[in-house]
Amino acid sequence: MGAQRIAIFDTTLRDGEQSPGCSMNLEEKLLMAHQLEALEVDVIEAGFPVASDDDFAAVQAIARECRRPIIAALCRAIPKDIDRAWEALSGAARPRIHTFLATSDIHLAYKLQKTRAEALDMIREGVSRAKSYTEDVEFSAEDATRSDWDFLVEVCTVALAAGATVLNIPDTVGYTVPDEYGRLITYLREKVPGIEKATISVHCHNDLGLAAANSLAAINAGARQVECTVNGIGERAGNAALEEVVMALSVRRDQLPYETGIRKELIYRTSQTLANITGREVQPNKAIVGRNAFAHESGIHQHGMLSHSSTYEIMTPESVGVRRSSLVLGKHSGRHALAKRFEELGYPLDRNGLDKAYKLFTKLSDQKKEIFDEDLLAIVQDGITSIPEIYKLKTVQAMAGTAMFSTALVTLGTEAGEVSETALGDGPVNAVFAAVDKLTGLSGRLLEFRIHSVSRGADAVGEVFVQVEFDGLPHGGKGASTDIVDASVRAYLNAVNKAIFARRNGKHATGGTPKPTAQEAGS
Ligand code: KIV
Ligand code: ZN
Repeated sequence: MGAQRIAIFDTTLRDGEQSPGCSMNLEEKLLMAHQLEALEVDVIEAGFPVASDDDFAAVQAIARECRRPIIAALCRAIPKDIDRAWEALSGAARPRIHTFLATSDIHLAYKLQKTRAEALDMIREGVSRAKSYTEDVEFSAEDATRSDWDFLVEVCTVALAAGATVLNIPDTVGYTVPDEYGRLITYLREKVPGIEKATISVHCHNDLGLAAANSLAAINAGARQVECTVNGIGERAGNAALEEVVMALSVRRDQLPYETGIRKELIYRTSQTLANITGREVQPNKAIVGRNAFAHESGIHQHGMLSHSSTYEIMTPESVGVRRSSLVLGKHSGRHALAKRFEELGYPLDRNGLDKAYKLFTKLSDQKKEIFDEDLLAIVQDGITSIPEIYKLKTVQAMAGTAMFSTALVTLGTEAGEVSETALGDGPVNAVFAAVDKLTGLSGRLLEFRIHSVSRGADAVGEVFVQVEFDGLPHGGKGASTDIVDASVRAYLNAVNKAIFARRNGKHATGGTPKPTAQEAGS
């Protein structure tokens, strides 16, 4: 008999997207959803349609475009949420309604002001309503690990009788420990009549750093679906990291005789795609996908590695798609080599994309001797986007120093030709942003500014991420260059172009259904 299959339910675009600084626009969500489809996750939780018009549109678009995985939409167990979820999912090839209600006494008393009996009624009605739309219905007992176990038995029994096909037992606040969580799953399997007809799912938060360990304990106790996110992003300390759960199952098959359908060689690329989209760098020591996960610093370790890599590596970097040597191209590399390398990195470019990428690449290779994969990924994410470049950077000059105001001169390309402006500022970056504001007539409020180096060496490419508020709405922007002022103005213009694009598409701060609070939404 083959190993038992564990379904991977990815909630990067829902629970992950709820975490601060990780919000994505429609285009970014679609890019990520396609990457998750290529990774071969079983389920993509695409959003929470009732939360906002943007969430609704994202679920609808992902449902239309990603045809292989199941597409799940989250909703509270209340009629208007369930109806909206179904509306967003109606074009999906494989839709799933994922409805939830909190079941712990703490949540029932303080958040919902409901009795246990009322909660059971809501679960029965919610699941039945979802079932009237689609066969595939998941029910989550929010805060399950702090709920009374016998009440959970009743909850699962009611949800199952109403038609739930997946029963999710979330550790919403990251409170449980592996042994206890395993026992809870076993308890439910023993006490809920007919539970074998449903798939038991687990959803762990990482408040005590135990999300992956708890998920594995639950699998050992009979759970067959794991909910997780790429890079472990999510509310507070995050969710179980997809890459950790998948690689633990793969590396320790002797202890955990289960398999997933994940294409492990795409793990690193998927992690980088998310980091590039959100601008949230992966912490260097992050398991599996951190920059140092396969780095060997000490002499003893390096010596061991040279003798045999198994001395200090329990998996190869290649098995998750990390190249051992990522030095790839230089000044004399041609279009062909560039196209091939982009293809290896998972970005097959069409002629137009390659033209743009090549232009950015030649400019970069004038500034930098060695070009690493990280530089290329920054190019592809920065330069090749479908947001129209209404304002395009032509040149930027900035002068700064102690005991003087910084000055900047910025020239932008527009539909009507080139325009230039000068401005003063508190520093060179502030001055170039002020010059851009004068040129565009928009007044941006900088909410966040971050810079990091994407590769090695003094000539490394710096990547800048900004969050700028225009018209009361925050817009993220990113730019990459070996010059930080250049990278900053590119990032700012990226946000400006997104703001104008959003304005032209009728997005204003006051539009749409307000997003529920994290509490209302469940975490
Ligand atoms: O953490 C949680 O309980 C959730 C549910 C909505 C599944 O995210
Ligand atoms: Zn959650």
